[in-house]
Amino acid sequence: MITNNLFYKVQSKKNDKALLATQFAPGNGYVGFRAVCDEDSDKTERGLFINGFYERIPMVHSEFAHGFPEVTDRMVKLPDWNSMDVFIDGVKLNPDDVLKRTYHFDLKSGVMEIASEYKNCTVISRKIADFEKPNYIASKTIIHGEGQIRAVLKFPLEVYSGERNRDPRKSGSEKLYKTHRFEKLENGFLGEFKTLNSNLISRITQKVVSNGTSFIQTENEMEVTAVSNLEIDRITLVEDSIRGFYQNSVDRKYADIKKAQTEYLARFWEENFVVLNTENNNYQKYLNFLIYHLLQATARDKYSNISAKGLTGDGYEGHYFWDTEIYMYPVWLVKDPDRAKTLLEYRYHILDYARKRSKELGYNKGATYAWRTISGIECSGYMPAGTAQYHLSGDIAYAAISYYFATGDYRALVDYIFEMVFETARTFYEIGNFTDDKFHINAVTGPDEYTAIVNDNYYTNAIAKYNFEWAVKLYKLIETTSKDDLNKLIEKLRIEKEEVTNFQNAFEAMVLLTDDKALIDIQDNSFVQKELWPDESVYDPSEGLSDDHEPLLMNYHPLIIYRHKILKQVEVVLAHFLLKDYTNKIKVDNSFYYYKALTTHDSSLSYCIHSLMGLKVGFDRADDYFLNSLELDIKNLHGNTADGMHMANIGGAIMNVLYGYLGMHVKADFMEINPVTTDRINGIETVFHYNDSKFLIKTGDKTELSLLAGEGAKFSVRGKEYTVTKDNPNVVHGDKAVLFDLDGVLTDTGELHYQAWKKLMNDEFAIDLPVKYKDLVRGISRLESMELILTNELSDRSFSEERKVELANRKNEIYKSLIEHFTPDDLYDGVEDLLKGLKKEGVFIALCSSSKNGGHLIYRLGIDNYFDAVVNPSFIERGKPAPDIFEKALKMLGVNAENAIGVEDAEAGIQAINSANIRSVGFGDNDMLKEADVVFDNISDLSRCLLNWSEDKNGWN
Ligand code: G6P
Ligand code: MG
Repeated sequence: MITNNLFYKVQSKKNDKALLATQFAPGNGYVGFRAVCDEDSDKTERGLFINGFYERIPMVHSEFAHGFPEVTDRMVKLPDWNSMDVFIDGVKLNPDDVLKRTYHFDLKSGVMEIASEYKNCTVISRKIADFEKPNYIASKTIIHGEGQIRAVLKFPLEVYSGERNRDPRKSGSEKLYKTHRFEKLENGFLGEFKTLNSNLISRITQKVVSNGTSFIQTENEMEVTAVSNLEIDRITLVEDSIRGFYQNSVDRKYADIKKAQTEYLARFWEENFVVLNTENNNYQKYLNFLIYHLLQATARDKYSNISAKGLTGDGYEGHYFWDTEIYMYPVWLVKDPDRAKTLLEYRYHILDYARKRSKELGYNKGATYAWRTISGIECSGYMPAGTAQYHLSGDIAYAAISYYFATGDYRALVDYIFEMVFETARTFYEIGNFTDDKFHINAVTGPDEYTAIVNDNYYTNAIAKYNFEWAVKLYKLIETTSKDDLNKLIEKLRIEKEEVTNFQNAFEAMVLLTDDKALIDIQDNSFVQKELWPDESVYDPSEGLSDDHEPLLMNYHPLIIYRHKILKQVEVVLAHFLLKDYTNKIKVDNSFYYYKALTTHDSSLSYCIHSLMGLKVGFDRADDYFLNSLELDIKNLHGNTADGMHMANIGGAIMNVLYGYLGMHVKADFMEINPVTTDRINGIETVFHYNDSKFLIKTGDKTELSLLAGEGAKFSVRGKEYTVTKDNPNVVHGDKAVLFDLDGVLTDTGELHYQAWKKLMNDEFAIDLPVKYKDLVRGISRLESMELILTNELSDRSFSEERKVELANRKNEIYKSLIEHFTPDDLYDGVEDLLKGLKKEGVFIALCSSSKNGGHLIYRLGIDNYFDAVVNPSFIERGKPAPDIFEKALKMLGVNAENAIGVEDAEAGIQAINSANIRSVGFGDNDMLKEADVVFDNISDLSRCLLNWSEDKNGWN
């Protein structure tokens, strides 16, 4: 299955050197270096990075406060020994005189190649960052030319570290190391570079093999010459004092490394290739490249993690952020759980630093992870958008808990997961407080950095609530599994019994701010009162996507930004992705549109999650947003890819496929799968891991799951439970949908709409509206109903549009007061059982009501969580009897008309269903609904019909 499009190739433009150096940078999780053609010995763009290798430099504050960090880590840019000066017949080649230069990354063999054509020669540079043995880099240079070719190989000791810049996203320029040792070897060199303060040593050993005839080795150069064809292989061994030196040999051959690399990647792609069923090849090509980049950036051991820019550049100083746990780790969790485990082990490795940090911040207990770090210490100098982001500790707990869910690895739970989860829960307990029986967390910053130091931040509280919930649940789980294990943990962590009770109480009492009128969740307790940013062009620039407004952070004092209702990136919406059980379907939908409209997407962490959540709420531009995050670095949409690849966005784009289009959600006892197909992405095929087993999933009209290895697991596909085991290794779930009208189908609001019109007409015109209007306005939009009533009842008078709108609004106010006290008791008897029954069969359920109050009503009726899609009639151009609203529902769900049923109580509604070529079921009066395929006048008959159909029993009536 893994055949197509596994390459990535671009032709360079000369001024793209810095950009291409990032995009084509090879790496293997341990070491990475920037892509520059070998004949270009200019150091400006070059750099070699070892994951986790850092210098500590003083952090200077002009105004110090207690607990501010005094030193910071910085990833060290090391010299890159891949360059040379090339002379043809004594004349030095100028890399800028190139006629054509092509960059090519072969994702199957893991070879990056830069081919340069000059007037009198060609130079090919090939590079491999060895995955199999990550301490190695293999390089091959092939020079063809007329005449005598001389290459002077460089072994520089210094690097170019750039200039100090005002952009907080870039790195600094200080000198970070000194040369500790430099030796000439036979056909090579060895250099040791020691950081000035952290006293870490990196060792680079390189051996050169060539067909050249003469070698002259001077101080730190080596000369190789040949006539017309010169080939040079450079094998580099990179080691460091964090991991230790093992004196591995550099006597390896380029060809052998290439072979091993190809084999490694064959195994990798077998598991990690994701087939997108799409006509647009760019989606597939870009996705492949991003998956490869994530692989290149992912740490190989507990001493490192995934830095914000991977190993492609030193932007953000090589720091690790929450990006890992929320944007990248989730990919490995279902793709390659061992890699996820390594990332968690790093967090466990630095747990003591987090404990220490809690003390520095003035608390007795708990572990507060550093907002940004390499070694574990807090490296953020800007507290409001750094240390204040306590959610990071909860994000780590969330990731650790999900590892246990995904693998069922009890040993990992007892050995380190529980410890991390319990310690972070302690942190939230320490920083929060019970007031008026509610648990509040004050003075924190959520993921949206355009809002800082607020109280009861929704995201933070939600993640803390979850942290409490699972600290307690895991405690109990270990208690029932092994008292002995629990006792050891109690002793090690000095757990007091009342702590567990406290966590349970905090979990239950946690404040999650919400607005039950607007039906949205609220970002924090200061958000609503803020004013809008005056220049509205900065908001959700989604039309063009790659708009060019400068990030506000570059041009405004933070306090100005904080005072406005403006978001840098997704926040409540992200909490809804992670923790959907803490809210309601209708609030998820509404919050998505509400916050999207206030978001600048100034962060590269924004579009990917908006696309992912967009797929869940039926947002019609989700594919565009997905493409945008696929292209972010490939097209340099943020203009700063030269500083390094945006790894969180890359992970986010891949997550989009796994958690968006495939709709995976790892739960405690099973995995939920809610696939979505769209116009452009018609289905997905890929391998994934869950519960120590391996599966193949294919989506499209149906969802197919097959067990490839292991014992199997439980799934819930669209709400239907499946157990995939060796005895039952293949499961096929066909997509079906029931599209419900609301008024008159699920509840008796038909009468109330009529009562509201009647009162309006009576109040305004002293007209007693005849009862026939109860049926006449069924299913028809508010304004159309108004129009109908006025033309029929007051035909001699004319009304301006404004007046009509005003009257319709008045009717709505009357109507709203009538439904204000609606509760689940107002549902027709049997409706909830019907919805439950359909869910159990994995049938999609959608709401297709012309009422703008529909969302509100199903929330009040307590049934909104049964719905997979709620069509907002405001987004529909033509009302019933036009088919639009039903067609929109099918599109949101990715279901074909022949697999759907529509249920309506109104003539116009039945006509709409019929014109959408969907089977129509009338509910109510046979005479009025005669155009329906079938009509029922009671819920139990209706339920029987729908449930029979859903179970494929005897046809459909
Ligand atoms: C439903 C009712 C109609 C009503 C329409 C608009 O379809 O059957 O009678 O006019 O919704 O409702 P709204 O709540 O938006 O006024
Ligand atoms: Mg109706």
